[in-house]
Amino acid sequence: MPDIPIVETFDLCRRDAERGQVLLQPTSFSLFAGDRVAVTGPSGSGKSVFLRALALLDPLDAGRIEWHGKAVSRIRMPQYRRHIAYIRQRPAILDGTVEDNLRYPYTLRAYRDVRFDRERARSFAEQAGRGGDFLDRYASELSGGEAQITALIRVLQLEPEVLLFDEPTASLDPESSHAIEALVNAWLDPADARRASVWVSHDLAQAARVSDRHLTMRAGVLTEITQPAAPPGTQGDVREGTR
Ligand SMILES: Nc1ncnc2c1ncn2[C@@H]1O[C@H](COP(=O)(O)OP(=O)(O)OP(=O)(O)O)[C@@H](O)[C@H]1O
Ligand SMILES: [Mg+2]
Repeated sequence: MPDIPIVETFDLCRRDAERGQVLLQPTSFSLFAGDRVAVTGPSGSGKSVFLRALALLDPLDAGRIEWHGKAVSRIRMPQYRRHIAYIRQRPAILDGTVEDNLRYPYTLRAYRDVRFDRERARSFAEQAGRGGDFLDRYASELSGGEAQITALIRVLQLEPEVLLFDEPTASLDPESSHAIEALVNAWLDPADARRASVWVSHDLAQAARVSDRHLTMRAGVLTEITQPAAPPGTQGDVREGTR
């Protein structure tokens, strides 16, 4: 295991701006290349707050984040955003075709050094069981699962280092969920292991499939469990690994 994590948090803390209530207790967490992490826990416990803080989507109230051992300065923020991707439950899909959606990031300044690769996009779609004319389909006609597959390909083609999943399959059918897991597993490429993922899920069976490290969130406290997510009804070996 490499010494320097891809992303490391030091006493990361989030508060409710109005009432000052602590949403995320000071959290120190390291994400290493090759890590596949699952976070489970009750609704309202702070899983999304943690993930959004990790993605630097919300301002931090205390603590700090390092990326490859260095602080994420304002100047490095666009690069951080590019490499640490947050994928939410309901993706924002634009009008037009799937291909229009996949081409969209390349119109942004942050991605002007890379070009859309149609063949590669097609191969991602095939990995998710969507061959043929998928890229020509209209976004308005996509199922929820297909919209999420589109959103995921849109992110994967940009080659992020870390994927932060906030219940990406929560409202999807099992077939679509498995297609998304397959796509992510292929992308993580265990033979290479330069990348990492954090997957928030309510589904313990899914958490077990998509992770080698399991953390739980309870009332804003993140705790590491040594074993991968245990199936329902069994007890994991719990230790305070993150505080
Ligand atoms: N921007 C915010 N301002 C104030 N309170 C917030 C904010 N975002 C989240 N909260 C509160 O923080 C707590 C944790 O919310 P969070 O969305 O992280 O829960 P969660 O574990 O992701 O739940 P779920 O499983 O339902 O998605 C909740 O009480 C929520 O109301
Ligand atoms: Mg949430």
